[in-house]
Amino acid sequence: MEAIVIYSKTGNTRSVAKRIAEVKPMPILEIIPENDDPNIERPVLKEAPKLKSYDHVVIGSPVYGFSIPKITKTYLEQTDFTGKTVDLFITHFFPFAWMGGKQTLNQMRYVVEVKGGTVKSMTSINWKNRKREKDINLLASQFRS
Ligand SMILES: Cc1cc2nc3c(=O)[nH]c(=O)nc-3n(C[C@H](O)[C@H](O)[C@H](O)COP(=O)(O)O)c2cc1C
Repeated sequence: MEAIVIYSKTGNTRSVAKRIAEVKPMPILEIIPENDDPNIERPVLKEAPKLKSYDHVVIGSPVYGFSIPKITKTYLEQTDFTGKTVDLFITHFFPFAWMGGKQTLNQMRYVVEVKGGTVKSMTSINWKNRKREKDINLLASQFRS
């Protein structure tokens, strides 16, 4: 069983998740914080999707301050990925990979691996890039069965 898990505040990450789910139908589960202020050091999650019945998960997140948002990190740290295969993607705004995208994906991979998961792929979607639609299509097509 497969699912997409996302944190999305302004909708970019959610729209990518929807495109993936159009190619490969699977539920989109959302991480929802009690408060979406990105500066809260220890965010409390109102919704933290349970992954027990899924063996493959796609996880999507924005980049905040060149880094993994604390909300995404909190979710990953409190989730058991043992035996699960994980594909990661991020959406971000700044033009270069070194401006947060790459680092955020590596941070996400680190936590998923510490929590027992196997990361299969990592993808950055740059919202400002004119290749954005092509990159989203390419990402979504990875999941075509
Ligand atoms: C507080 C804050 C910090 C951000 N920091 C970065 C950053 O360091 N690098 C970057 O490329 N984009 C940064 N962004 C842009 C978001 O990552 C980007 O707009 C993302 O697609 C938002 O995803 P969402 O619409 O799913 O919430 C930041 C946005 C916010 C609100």
